[in-house]
Amino acid sequence: MMTRGGTKLANSVLVLAGHRFLSTATAKAASNTAVAGFLTERTVGRPAWNTTFLVRSQIVGVRNGGTMALGQKNEEEEKKKAVDGGDNKDEKKAVSYWGVEAPKLTKEDGTEWKWNCFRPWETYKADLSIDLKKHHAPATFMDKLAFWTVKALRWPTDLFFQRRYGCRAMMLETVAAVPGMVGGLLLHCKSLRRFEHSGGWIKALLEEAENERMHLMTFMEVTKPKWYERALVFTVQGVFFNAYFLGYLISPKFAHRMVGYLEEEAIHSYTEFLKELDKGNIENVPAPAIAIDYWRMPPDSTLRDVVMVVRADEAHHRDVNHFASDVHYQGRELREAPAPIGYH
Ligand SMILES: [Fe+2]
Ligand SMILES: [Fe+2]
Repeated sequence: MMTRGGTKLANSVLVLAGHRFLSTATAKAASNTAVAGFLTERTVGRPAWNTTFLVRSQIVGVRNGGTMALGQKNEEEEKKKAVDGGDNKDEKKAVSYWGVEAPKLTKEDGTEWKWNCFRPWETYKADLSIDLKKHHAPATFMDKLAFWTVKALRWPTDLFFQRRYGCRAMMLETVAAVPGMVGGLLLHCKSLRRFEHSGGWIKALLEEAENERMHLMTFMEVTKPKWYERALVFTVQGVFFNAYFLGYLISPKFAHRMVGYLEEEAIHSYTEFLKELDKGNIENVPAPAIAIDYWRMPPDSTLRDVVMVVRADEAHHRDVNHFASDVHYQGRELREAPAPIGYH
């Protein structure tokens, strides 16, 4: 069995081999054969799973050496492809003589992996057994401030969206994806400044941001934002990013606690969303294709199934952020407590 790191290594070696060492004839032959099997596994906080994907070496624009080897004719062909979009007319390809083109991946059923924004080894099955009712009772002044700040933010949100939960989810995910990126960025800079390890927290927080952004990419498929909602996101992001950045600099303990409470509210919102779906007030449309691939869901999944897995993700974010705040409360730095990488 190959680990995720091993998979990526094999992948890199394969692409390098295709681009750098094969003659054109050999490379063409190699491209016609499925050459690598992937085994990935994830065992953190949930049952292990594994899957197999095939990768085909991407031979377009293979070069044997440096700039001298670049034939005028091939270069012109590649430029033409860049303009035409290659085989796929919807996708404008960049000129690839740098040898950085991504390999083509194939799913288990033989169809092409069509997502460039995430790869098969980044997908997972959501852990639906997580406790949704868990709550951190605010004890200190700072906890209470975080709790009531979140409660206060909920009031205008309820007023604006009312029971339009699809729209509400989409808009809130534009905010939810900010804290992980800001926290990850600040820990990254801290690690550089202090010449010290992060304990995995940079990766864990960036994973959270990416996971939240995938929630947004999913809900975008079922609800299209109106112009004034886009304007609202623009404004809210400008304010929230800077406020959270400052807040995290001043007190990461407070910042993580606040996100923990935000996630508790997110769980509540998605529970209300499910109720509306069950009452028939929101149509239970088929799950978007991106969701089926990202959460490895059955092909006949519906919007209700998507809301279930997203809610489970929010519960994981809640745990991670309350845990991070607790670490600070115990007078320790995050790097001293191993980060729950892959816990989402
Ligand atoms: Fe989310
Ligand atoms: Fe979340």
